[in-house]
Amino acid sequence: MSNSRILVTGAAGFIGSHLCETLIQRGYSVIGVDNLSMGRLENLAAVSDHSNFTFSKTDVSDTAEMKTLCKGVSTIVHLAAYKIPRYGKAIDTLRINALGAFSTFDAAAEHGARVILASTSDVYGRNPSLPYSEESESVFGSSKVPRWGYAVSKLFDEHLLLSYRDAFGLPATIIRIFGSYGPRHHLSWWGGPQSVFITAALNGEAMEIHGDGLQTRSFCYIDDTVDGFVRTIEAKDVDGEIINIGNADEITIHDLAVLIHELCGSSDAANLNLIPYENFGKYEDVRRRVPDLSLAKKLLNFTPRTALREGLLKTISWQKDAL
Ligand SMILES: NC(=O)c1ccc[n+]([C@@H]2O[C@H](COP(=O)([O-])OP(=O)(O)OC[C@H]3O[C@@H](n4cnc5c(N)ncnc54)[C@H](O)[C@@H]3O)[C@@H](O)[C@H]2O)c1
Repeated sequence: MSNSRILVTGAAGFIGSHLCETLIQRGYSVIGVDNLSMGRLENLAAVSDHSNFTFSKTDVSDTAEMKTLCKGVSTIVHLAAYKIPRYGKAIDTLRINALGAFSTFDAAAEHGARVILASTSDVYGRNPSLPYSEESESVFGSSKVPRWGYAVSKLFDEHLLLSYRDAFGLPATIIRIFGSYGPRHHLSWWGGPQSVFITAALNGEAMEIHGDGLQTRSFCYIDDTVDGFVRTIEAKDVDGEIINIGNADEITIHDLAVLIHELCGSSDAANLNLIPYENFGKYEDVRRRVPDLSLAKKLLNFTPRTALREGLLKTISWQKDAL
């Protein structure tokens, strides 16, 4: 419990809405900021009428408005961003992630607020040495492949935040999120492969797998992701740190599809449709992605608690209603 005031950018999105809910439950006063480009006000239904919650429909790159909103704020959690430009719009990802960070960090510097930045496991790129510790190298492909624009934009945000810390004494912590899933994830590829697989399985349609399906991911249930953020907010000695938050259990995309098919109650064999990467133009996937969580354990005593099966069952139950 705390009386301090926290501003969450990207509040109406998947992670932001869950984080706002948890912070309100813990007694914080929360200002949610979102331009609703990808988020939905419905995501904030559980907190929108709470006396400790206010929402502002604001574009994070509006520096003047951000400076006004940040008055009296002790911590800013910067989640507003655009993700991997899988279907074009690389310019949105680069513009929003760069300008939004400048604006948010300027507002923080003006009011002496601490910043917690949501970064991504994508900054490790296609580094083949696993698991990824926070000291692992960033290995990216050609600039002609637009997907790396997201990783580069987030790496830029990380450098920018640490340079603001250096220049203005801004307390700052970076969280590198490894694939989070759960209720309220987007019902498209924006929400991750589990989201589209669940929709396909519930509708009895083929599940589209990009590539051979043997690429792996480590999925972290939203409650655990949010727990990592809350522990960071409440930790005393994490200034200047970069911390992985996720779940180290690894699964191939093929096996994920089969598991979701089973958990959706289908008794027949899963209908998998393998689509070659060439169909997406210049797209490049990452083969494996596994976090080393030892720093999160040491600094935050963080351990993910939700097994994939359990988290998927909760997500499927939500998605049945959402569809
Ligand atoms: N979900 C994951 O698995 C995952 C993994 C790695 C990193 N991240 C990072 O975590 C953060 C949140 O991700 P998410 O999955 O909740 O995404 P999301 O798209 O659900 O949420 C992002 C929110 O930011 C808002 N937004 C976008 N541009 C904005 C702007 N210019 N001004 C104000 N609001 C704006 C959107 O409307 C949306 O509500 C992002 O920074 C993302 O890069 C997420």
